[in-house]
Amino acid sequence: MTLSLDLTGQIAVVTGATGELGRVITRTLATAGADVAIHYHARRERAEELAAEVRALGRRACCVRADVGDEASVNAMRDAVKAELGDASIVVCNAVSQYQWTSVLEQSIADFESQWRTCTVHAVLMAKAFIPGMVPRRHGRFIAINTECTMQCHPNQGAYVSGKRGMDGVMRVLAREVGEHQITVNQVAPGWMISDKYRGTADEIQPDYAKNVALKRRGYDQDVANAVSFLASDLAAFISGCYLPVTGGHVMPTV
Ligand SMILES: NC(=O)c1ccc[n+]([C@@H]2O[C@H](COP(=O)([O-])OP(=O)(O)OC[C@H]3O[C@@H](n4cnc5c(N)ncnc54)[C@H](OP(=O)(O)O)[C@@H]3O)[C@@H](O)[C@H]2O)c1
Repeated sequence: MTLSLDLTGQIAVVTGATGELGRVITRTLATAGADVAIHYHARRERAEELAAEVRALGRRACCVRADVGDEASVNAMRDAVKAELGDASIVVCNAVSQYQWTSVLEQSIADFESQWRTCTVHAVLMAKAFIPGMVPRRHGRFIAINTECTMQCHPNQGAYVSGKRGMDGVMRVLAREVGEHQITVNQVAPGWMISDKYRGTADEIQPDYAKNVALKRRGYDQDVANAVSFLASDLAAFISGCYLPVTGGHVMPTV
């Protein structure tokens, strides 16, 4: 028997594809065979560069802009993806907006609202937009990127953790609601990963962080992309409702 992770013929949508993890997730899904809709918010040039990389791999690609917290914007993105590539079978909710790291008492309500929109509402709108197209085909992979912070609840992460915990609740309920259609719903929860902005810089090594990781080091953007690709594949056909930490053992969800 040969095991292969083959996404040939699948159409993926990756939100936040222009970001640190999104671009590696995009390249990896394309390398595994998927056509990819590359979502961006502000950085169209980056999206176009990524699309050129995907096409160079022999896959189809398109660039789509949306505010992931806005229903009309997400629905317009869904229509653009369908027109350019077809019905998506893999959705990766990866985008997130920036916010100030500060205490709950100091955090602006605008930060709580933007995290709620780009984490929780983002997952809801992407599900409403893309899952109906998966149902008749009895196949779909709905994946969201969470974070180890959701389990840690450290100080100064109130807005972020509240948004991601809301997303976690939506994903678990959704898994039960759409599973009968053979659509899986899963979350990948990275630790503090090494990505382009750290690679080869003095900040790549973070001993204070790494000492609490079971593997005693930071992981890479590619580790997250590998987990996403696995969950998107037929190898993960019977995995749903999962919160999968990619943290080298930094956090360990209890049973
Ligand atoms: N990096 C890590 O180590 C790490 C660790 C744990 C969890 N995560 C999670 O992994 C995911 C990716 O993180 P990242 O570090 O790669 O993020 P990032 O580099 O900050 O990229 C964020 C992405 O989201 C898009 N975006 C921002 N605001 C948006 C909005 N309102 N509507 C639509 N798109 C918006 C950006 O688009 P433009 O570029 O076009 O502006 C960009 O593509 C996030 O969900 C994050 O919580 C990351």
